[in-house]
Amino acid sequence: MKNLFLKKNLDQLIKDANDPNAREGEGGGTLKRHLGALNLTMLGIGAIIGAGIFSLTGTAAANYAGPGIVYSFIIGGILCGFAGLCYAEMAAMVPVSGSAYAYSYATMGEFIAWIIGWDLILEYAFGAVTVSAAWSGYFVSLITKTLGIPLSDTMIRFTKGPWEIVTLIDGTSVAGIWNFPATVIALFMSWVLYRGIRESASMNNVIVAVKVIIIIAVIVLGWGVIDSQNWIANPMATGLSALVPQEGLSIRHGQEFLSYGWKGVLTGAGVVFFAYIGFDAVSTTAQEAKNPQRDLPIGILTSLVICTIVYVLMALVMTGVVPYKELGVSDPVAVAVDRIVSLKGWSMGAQKSLSFAVKFGALAGLTSVILVMMLGQTRVFYAMSKDGLLPWFANIHKKHQTPHIATAVTGVFVALCGGLMPMSLVGELVSIGTLLAFVLVCLSIPILRIKDPNRERPFRTPFFWVVSILGAASCLFVMTGLPHDTWLRLIVWLAIGFVIYFAYGSKHSKLRQQQLKK
Ligand code: ALA
Repeated sequence: MKNLFLKKNLDQLIKDANDPNAREGEGGGTLKRHLGALNLTMLGIGAIIGAGIFSLTGTAAANYAGPGIVYSFIIGGILCGFAGLCYAEMAAMVPVSGSAYAYSYATMGEFIAWIIGWDLILEYAFGAVTVSAAWSGYFVSLITKTLGIPLSDTMIRFTKGPWEIVTLIDGTSVAGIWNFPATVIALFMSWVLYRGIRESASMNNVIVAVKVIIIIAVIVLGWGVIDSQNWIANPMATGLSALVPQEGLSIRHGQEFLSYGWKGVLTGAGVVFFAYIGFDAVSTTAQEAKNPQRDLPIGILTSLVICTIVYVLMALVMTGVVPYKELGVSDPVAVAVDRIVSLKGWSMGAQKSLSFAVKFGALAGLTSVILVMMLGQTRVFYAMSKDGLLPWFANIHKKHQTPHIATAVTGVFVALCGGLMPMSLVGELVSIGTLLAFVLVCLSIPILRIKDPNRERPFRTPFFWVVSILGAASCLFVMTGLPHDTWLRLIVWLAIGFVIYFAYGSKHSKLRQQQLKK
């Protein structure tokens, strides 16, 4: 029992992180330090902006928060800001690949570390699965609707997995067979990751530039045609008359957004939390960063701040140009852009070009999320395997200097799940898994400040008591708002993890073996 909570020595962990030999994996290769502050920030933005803004914002506005979705984004940004500050302190102090997994190994012991490592699969691998399915939806829509290329019945059935319904040419509804585009994009991204961290970061930089330019263009174009009436509560549309200003009553400034009340705003914050997931993936690349102590906090916090600003502006534009009820579709940004074009009185040609640009931007956005999520997963697997808790994954390719077995396995896993799994099962699991990791990272901060107050901390979380406790409490609060089914799935997932830990990890743990030798 005592062995379950064996802790890694922090001095050793930090020494290892800075020792070039410690970046050597099995198989003869070594992780190389290629990433600077700019690359790390771009990786953060690459992982953050994706399905959340391009798909979920509309559903959250239409069903939960109304125009108050803007507040939901601000709340989501603050919550992630707390976690981001804690991640920044940990990442700068303990710059090793495993991120939250490694931090908890040093603070809470092996068993909790295993739980977090296993839990991070929900965030990174299943995050990539969810986003690959969204990628497929945008891709098919770009091909068929925007470019007008028809698909045969057989091809249509290969655009969704067996648990989803597709509509054939004659209008009949049947089950899909395999979400082939989702599989292809996952395999392609894992090939990019396999080729090298420098190649992956360069590709990510290009994709991020495309998506950010397109999003800024939508914000700038939309800003001029916002109709503030769209922000005003509409009892007829929501049916929640108790919560909204009634006809004949004047709407006070500040109430306008809150057509579903603060409860709706908080529920909306839980939904759009997904849009922020990913900034922490930056910390998994610690052993490939040139100056991790300085650059990891920059990468984590800058990407988070930039994305929060972009999200709030985008939410203002979307709910300002379209009545929020109309945003409850899978491609709300495209709906907003169509409205912007018609409000500006532009031609059909302009509408088509902009619609193409937006879908292209969405595809770019989703592509980089898949890339960075899978990158995070491979580095966590690598770290767990180096500690002996998982087999094979510590192998580093001699030429490409990447954990190639971890990359190949992650790629195949994401490709199969994206192609075949029911998406309704995975989406919220990603959020709950991530929130759990955030809670534990936030709690690690005060634990270490008390136990090890004199350790060098290149980045110090300001007001750490307030920030870490509020961070952990607010993540727990959002978790409690998730459906019971999601909790049940989390418990089942963790139970599978326990079985694997006791069957393999606990027997091969290097830390335990070292203890036995002593
Ligand atoms: N934050 C990522 C997205 O919205 C997961 O796609």
